[in-house]
Amino acid sequence: MRVGVLGTGSVGRSIAGKLVSIGHEVMLGSRTADNENAERWVSETGAGASQGTFADAAAYGELLFNCTSGDGSVPALQSARPEDLAGKTLVDVSNALDFSQGRPPSLFVCNTDSLGEQIQRAFPELKVVKSLNTMNHEVMVEPEKVPGDHEVFVCGNDDAAKAQVVELLQGFGWPAERVVDLGDLSAARGTEAYVILWLRLWGAFGTPHVNIQVRR
Ligand SMILES: NC(=O)c1ccc[n+]([C@@H]2O[C@H](COP(=O)([O-])OP(=O)(O)OC[C@H]3O[C@@H](n4cnc5c(N)ncnc54)[C@H](OP(=O)(O)O)[C@@H]3O)[C@@H](O)[C@H]2O)c1
Repeated sequence: MRVGVLGTGSVGRSIAGKLVSIGHEVMLGSRTADNENAERWVSETGAGASQGTFADAAAYGELLFNCTSGDGSVPALQSARPEDLAGKTLVDVSNALDFSQGRPPSLFVCNTDSLGEQIQRAFPELKVVKSLNTMNHEVMVEPEKVPGDHEVFVCGNDDAAKAQVVELLQGFGWPAERVVDLGDLSAARGTEAYVILWLRLWGAFGTPHVNIQVRR
């Protein structure tokens, strides 16, 4: 499948690299057509990897990933043509982190709304599925970085899009029984808010390779 990955940071490059390694063709998207990170990723990855603007990547992908900074997510998608978003699944990995007052960051949207829902409202033609935002980018594509059983969440308003993402996650190394469907997209209020605790767990354990194991 052709996948457009919007975002050239560590998340975008980790996800794009994993997608190519499991047989997908990927275009990494950026604000500019000559982003250094993206150019390096393409030359290191080789066949199946390409790069362009956010609009190019949105047009290229049959399925899209949003791996842009929280405050850049809506602007990044606004630079795509609406017809290039129409009907596509967007896996939203972003978090609503606000660093304007320094660290630790706060959230610029929370409690009664979420970034995932803001994206869905701004682009109703997309099928937004929130996932993978509750862990470090290396764990997203290599779950065994955290020993034992642990979980990844999905939520979204379109069941078929969620099923498509669950299948993709299995290719990333997440068995179906480790994928927890939290329901509609408003569940993103919870998974996005968790990032504040997640950052503290990183500090407490001295490693970003931590994740949630749901015991019941
Ligand atoms: N790092 C992690 O392990 C981790 C884990 C979970 C979730 N997340 C979330 O995943 C997302 C990506 O994180 P990251 O660490 O890879 O990188 P990041 O630095 O948060 O985001 C980099 C991307 O955001 C784009 N961007 C920045 N400002 C923008 C703006 N004003 N308008 C449009 N685009 C803008 C950049 O565009 P250019 O390509 O043009 O520079 C770049 O592609 C974030 O929302 C983050 O909170 C990160």
